[in-house]
Amino acid sequence: MIYFDLASDLHTDLWRDNINSIDFSNPLSSTLVIAGDTSNYVSELLEIVKNSKKYYENVIIIDGNHEHYFSLKNPYMLESYLAREITSLNGNYLCGKSVIKINKTAFIGANGWYDFKINEENFTIQENIKNWNNFSNDSRMILWQGSSPTFIATDHFKLLSNQVNDLQNDNSVDNIVIITHTAPHKKLLPYKGDYSWDCLTSAYGNSMMENIIKIDKKHKIKVWVYGHSHSKLDKTINNIRYVNNARGYESEKHILGKWSFVQIKSDGT
Ligand SMILES: [Fe+2]
Ligand SMILES: [Fe+2]
Repeated sequence: MIYFDLASDLHTDLWRDNINSIDFSNPLSSTLVIAGDTSNYVSELLEIVKNSKKYYENVIIIDGNHEHYFSLKNPYMLESYLAREITSLNGNYLCGKSVIKINKTAFIGANGWYDFKINEENFTIQENIKNWNNFSNDSRMILWQGSSPTFIATDHFKLLSNQVNDLQNDNSVDNIVIITHTAPHKKLLPYKGDYSWDCLTSAYGNSMMENIIKIDKKHKIKVWVYGHSHSKLDKTINNIRYVNNARGYESEKHILGKWSFVQIKSDGT
């Protein structure tokens, strides 16, 4: 078991002040996890990794959707770029391909994206996609180049499923912590009672991720952290602790309130 600090949605380009990890780091946490949307600018994400590595032994990070806005790369090209650059800073970038093992805890993760289905009890896929095309910046600002959120969401689901399956018989691992940017369970969606907003929740979660729990026969998944929706949450569903610790935009500061890194135990207690 280890203690780790969690942050997401730092959106450093949308705040006037600079994040210095020493201001937020908790004693006993030797690992920092950042669950996406660090900045619209990859250079700022790399600065955060560099700064955080001064105070943490391990900095584990994934991309959100915002890292893709000005990258001029398609999502898979950006994954490769981030893997190379973050590794050169001795950080750990996760996109479903590597496992970070620390004291019997395995960290796995990937952006997760979305498949327009997680709110299907209330909305059809067709209206979700129409609404996304009309209102989501992702539809306009990401260089999809023949790919799509659903395609990558499926890919990330398969990669994480395989990793959870492999870890079942790995005796060096008692606890699995999964990191995604989008929500992995429909009970985590932030509904507001507004049609356009609630329809857009289909772009806030990956409906396939709930199936990963079924693969976890030995109940090793203890914690699942995510971000994307700027609403902090700490909720246990079927013995798994789901935590969102989004900082959000400076313009939302008055709604979101005081924010800091949160410290989490990898065994979920
Ligand atoms: Fe965000
Ligand atoms: Fe996001």
